Amino acid sequence: MRRTRARGHVRRERVVHTSTSDFAQYRAPVCEALDSYAGVTRFHMPGHRGGAGAEPAVVARLGAQAFESDVTGVPGMDDLHEPHGCIREAEELAAKAFGADRTFFSVGGTTGAVHAMVLGTLSDGETLIIPRNIHKSILAALVLSGAVPAFVKTDYDPALGFATGVDEQSLRACVERNPAAKAVLLVNPTYYGTTVDLAPIAEYLHSRDIILLVDEAHGPHFRFHSRLPRPALDSGADAVAQGAHKILGAMTQASYLHVKGNRIDLQRLKAMFQYLTSTSPSYLLLASLDAARRQMALHGTDILEYAVNLADHLRHEVNKIPGLSSFGQTDSVPTLDPTKVTVTVRELGITGYRAEKYLRQEHGIQVEMSDLYNVLVIVSWGNTTADVEKLLAGLRDLTGAVERGEVPKDLSSSQRPIPDLPPIPEMALTPRKAAESPWEKAPLHDTRGRISAEVVTCYPPGIPILFPGEIITEDTIAYLDIVKELAFGISGPSDTTLETIRVVKDQ
Ligand SMILES: Cc1ncc(COP(=O)(O)O)c(C=O)c1O
Repeated sequence: MRRTRARGHVRRERVVHTSTSDFAQYRAPVCEALDSYAGVTRFHMPGHRGGAGAEPAVVARLGAQAFESDVTGVPGMDDLHEPHGCIREAEELAAKAFGADRTFFSVGGTTGAVHAMVLGTLSDGETLIIPRNIHKSILAALVLSGAVPAFVKTDYDPALGFATGVDEQSLRACVERNPAAKAVLLVNPTYYGTTVDLAPIAEYLHSRDIILLVDEAHGPHFRFHSRLPRPALDSGADAVAQGAHKILGAMTQASYLHVKGNRIDLQRLKAMFQYLTSTSPSYLLLASLDAARRQMALHGTDILEYAVNLADHLRHEVNKIPGLSSFGQTDSVPTLDPTKVTVTVRELGITGYRAEKYLRQEHGIQVEMSDLYNVLVIVSWGNTTADVEKLLAGLRDLTGAVERGEVPKDLSSSQRPIPDLPPIPEMALTPRKAAESPWEKAPLHDTRGRISAEVVTCYPPGIPILFPGEIITEDTIAYLDIVKELAFGISGPSDTTLETIRVVKDQ
């Protein structure tokens, strides 16, 4: 595989898998089955009878067609648990388009796909190596499976204020410490679109007989354009969860779970998928997964070309606005998804939170999210140049408003920096045991040596300080003491003031 430089990015030249010559990809079997069902007189669930029995205001809001397509469990519409008809065909087409051997349609979000992936791979007591900054769906999968986490250090960029990923050396060191690990689960890309090269990691793990699972929630489009990072499945991952609804044209909650190769026991994974999946899946979600695959297979390269160019334009223009910057035009982030545009507002002396609020209140613009220093914008083929110009106008106005003192600065240069994270605490109980155990609340200062029953994450850095099952140390208490005054957000604990922590009751 040749590496070339293009527009400041290191990119791989590879075959782009848009296969308009694969005529099967023109089909959308679930959508076709819904078309065939139109006009049938219904004496079956759901209760709204194709919309006629639903409250008119909701039909007006959601559209009559949506209600008409909301059928489930009737002949011809197949069965998500044991697919043999239109769903099976649609999943096979998706597997081909995304480079998998088997694809499952998830109607429980990427969360559902992650749960099935972990439960299908690990049993109670088996070790799963994971980065510290996992999404909460992975913590839930640990609780459900009883798997034991072994944490690998996550890199953090202090200038940008977010965790960037796991480097190969740290991962290798973690494997050396946990040679019996059954699997590694990596989150790649990050929310901000930065990635690590998974190919050498997959090769190394497979040489140690370790399975590679990837939470690729934010990368379902990667396979369809050469300027996007290499997708996990093409890099050797054994199973991958993708948030089709996050980036592609699928509806919210619709996701894919892909499997490749023979390291994963497909029968077991399928059984776990069934345990976790509704017996009445929404055909709105299934049809949207089917159509999102068709859109990518037929038009992915063209529409992504447009989105990448639009995002490049936005990034370029943002970098001309004094006080703002957006990384990605330099080689410092060589494996970036260019459709993710991080606008850093730090130099203005305001937080990303304040910028997000201003754009929404004053300009009617909603970004994807904000953090201490940044707002994150996702540029899609669904966006227009007028959208981008409106955002740029909003950002220019924001900088002017800050300069004129109309938007107060909430980021002081004299603010104490957030200290480095304390060492990863020792785990006394698995997350499942900690979740099952009786717990009580204890004042933070009395928790030394106690076992946490909850996860505690402070923003920044957005990397959990405590997981359920970990022993609270003096270092952890000292860190939380400082950070509770400095953090801009605290997530996980039942008491977000951090005056108390939920701990496992002493038996
Ligand atoms: C990295 C990552 N994994 C998994 C999920 C869960 O996805 P969903 O909301 O579709 O359940 C998210 C959601 O934001 C995520 O960011």
